[in-house]
Amino acid sequence: MNDAAPGNQDSPSRRSVLRTTAGAAGVVGVSGAAGLGLGPLGGTAAADAPAGAPAEAPVPRRQGSTMAGVPFERRSTVRVGIIGLGNRGGSMIDLFLALPGVRVVAVCDPVRAKAERAAAKVVKAGQPSPAVYTKGEDDYANLCARGDVDFVYVATPWDSHFEMAKAAMLAGKHVGVECPLAMRLDELWALVDLSERTRRHCMQLENCCYGRNEMRVLRMAHAGVFGELLHGAGAYNHDLRELMFSPTYYEGPWRRLWHTRLRGDLYPNHGFGPVANYMDVNRGDRVVSISSFGTPALGLAEYREANMPPGDPSWKETYVGSDRTISMVTTAKGRVIRLEHDVSTPHPYSRINSLGGTKGVFEDYPARIYVEPDHKGHQWGDFSAYAAEFDHWLWKEHANPPGGHGGMDYIMVYRLMQCMRLGLVPDFDVYDAATWTAPVPLSHASIKAKGAPQQIPDFTRGEWRKPRSGVDSVKPQ
Ligand SMILES: NC(=O)c1ccc[n+]([C@@H]2O[C@H](COP(=O)([O-])OP(=O)(O)OC[C@H]3O[C@@H](n4cnc5c(N)ncnc54)[C@H](O)[C@@H]3O)[C@@H](O)[C@H]2O)c1
Repeated sequence: MNDAAPGNQDSPSRRSVLRTTAGAAGVVGVSGAAGLGLGPLGGTAAADAPAGAPAEAPVPRRQGSTMAGVPFERRSTVRVGIIGLGNRGGSMIDLFLALPGVRVVAVCDPVRAKAERAAAKVVKAGQPSPAVYTKGEDDYANLCARGDVDFVYVATPWDSHFEMAKAAMLAGKHVGVECPLAMRLDELWALVDLSERTRRHCMQLENCCYGRNEMRVLRMAHAGVFGELLHGAGAYNHDLRELMFSPTYYEGPWRRLWHTRLRGDLYPNHGFGPVANYMDVNRGDRVVSISSFGTPALGLAEYREANMPPGDPSWKETYVGSDRTISMVTTAKGRVIRLEHDVSTPHPYSRINSLGGTKGVFEDYPARIYVEPDHKGHQWGDFSAYAAEFDHWLWKEHANPPGGHGGMDYIMVYRLMQCMRLGLVPDFDVYDAATWTAPVPLSHASIKAKGAPQQIPDFTRGEWRKPRSGVDSVKPQ
C-alpha cells in the first residue's frame, strides 16, 4: 500500500470518488492546474478584494448554512474512532486515552499489527476493547458508519484525507483531519459544502496553533502589544530527507512521492495556522491572494545519490520541487504573510513564527521580541519576560502536558474534547481548515505561472468580516 509509482497512485475507489465529487474541474492527474481542482466553479463572486489584488476567486453558491459559531452538541462522553495508526495516529491515541470523558471505541488501519497495537493500548487504559477495522483501504467507511462514534480522527497519508473526511460527515460524525485537509481546491470546497449541509464540523487538527509561544503571541496581538498588525511569517522548514527515504519510518514512500507530483508548499498549515490566528483571519480579516516562488528541486536526488543503494525503488523517481518554496500571502486589510516550505535540504527545524506591527515585532527560533516602549537601541529583548502575563489559560492549567511536540498536541486534543463535552463552539472550523490548506494547490499553480498571484477563495462566503472567538478562547466556567 502507498507505494504506487507516480502517475498511478489513485486507487479505483479514489478515482471514482474524485469523478463524482470533484466538481467542474477535470481530474487528469495532479501535475497540471486542472488536476488541482482549480477550474471555474460557477456561482457568485464576492466583492471584497482590495485594490490591486487579483480578481476575486469564484465562490460557489452555498448549499447549507454557515458553520461559523455553531456549537457541538453537549455530551458527557466523547466516543472517538481513529483512522490511521502510524507515527501520528499511533501516538495521538495516547492523548485521547489520557483524557477523562473520552473513549476510543474503534480503530482502523490496513496494517493489522498497527491496529492491534492501538487496540491493546485502549484495553491497557482500562477501556472496553475497541472495534478493529483492518480489511483493506476502504474499511474506514465501516468505522465511520458505526452508531457509537461521535468524532473521527484521520491520521493517514494525504491523498486519503478528503475521502475520509467526507465519509465521516456523511455518516453524521464530526471529523478532525491531520494536515493538510486535502490536496485540491475543489476538494476543499466540497468539504466546506458538506460541513454546511451535514451540520458536522470538519476541522484541521493544527497542533502548532496550540504551541505555548504561539498562544502567547496570539494573546499579545489581541492585547495590542504589537500595535496595528502589518506582517507575519510561518514555515515548515524541517529536514525530512532521512525519514522520507527510510524504508520503515512511514508506511511506504507516500510522503516522498508527493515531491514527484507537486511543486509548491506541500505542508503550509503549521506555519500558516498560527499567523492566520494572530491576524484574525476568517474573524475580521481574510487572505485574498498568494504568490509563490520555488527553487530547483535538487536536495532529494542529491541525498539519494549519497545514501540509497542501486536498485532502490526511489531511483525511478523524478523530483519536481521545489526544495524551498517561498510564498507571499496578502490579506483583505493589506497585511502580508510570508510562508516557507523546505523538507529536502539541511536546515535546523523552524516554523519561523513571526509577527510585526506598528509597535514592534516578535520572531521565533529562537524566541525574541522588540516592542516599544519596552525596547530600544535596535537590540532584541527577552521574550520570557512576557511569558507569565500572556500565557494562555490552557497552558496555565496544564503546565507540563504529556505527549510530543512540547505538549501542544495534548493542549489541542484536551481543548477539542472539552469543547465537544461542554457543547461549545470549536476554536477552529472548516473555513480555517480550507484556508490553511489552500496554499497546497495554489502555490503549485503560482509557481507554474512564474509567481503570478492566485486568488484564495473566501471559503466563509462573507462571514469573515464578523469578529468571533477562536483559539484565544475564554476559559469555560
Ligand atoms: N500535526 C503533526 O504534528 C503531524 C506529525 C506527523 C504527521 N502528521 C500527519 O499525520 C498523517 C500521517 O502521518 P504519519 O507520519 O503517521 O504517516 P505513517 O505512514 O506513519 O502512518 C499512516 C498510517 O495510515 C495508514 N493508512 C494508510 N491508508 C489507510 C487507509 N485507507 N485506511 C486506514 N489507514 C490507512 C497506514 O497503514 C499507516 O499506518 C499525515 O497527514 C501527516 O502529515 C502530522
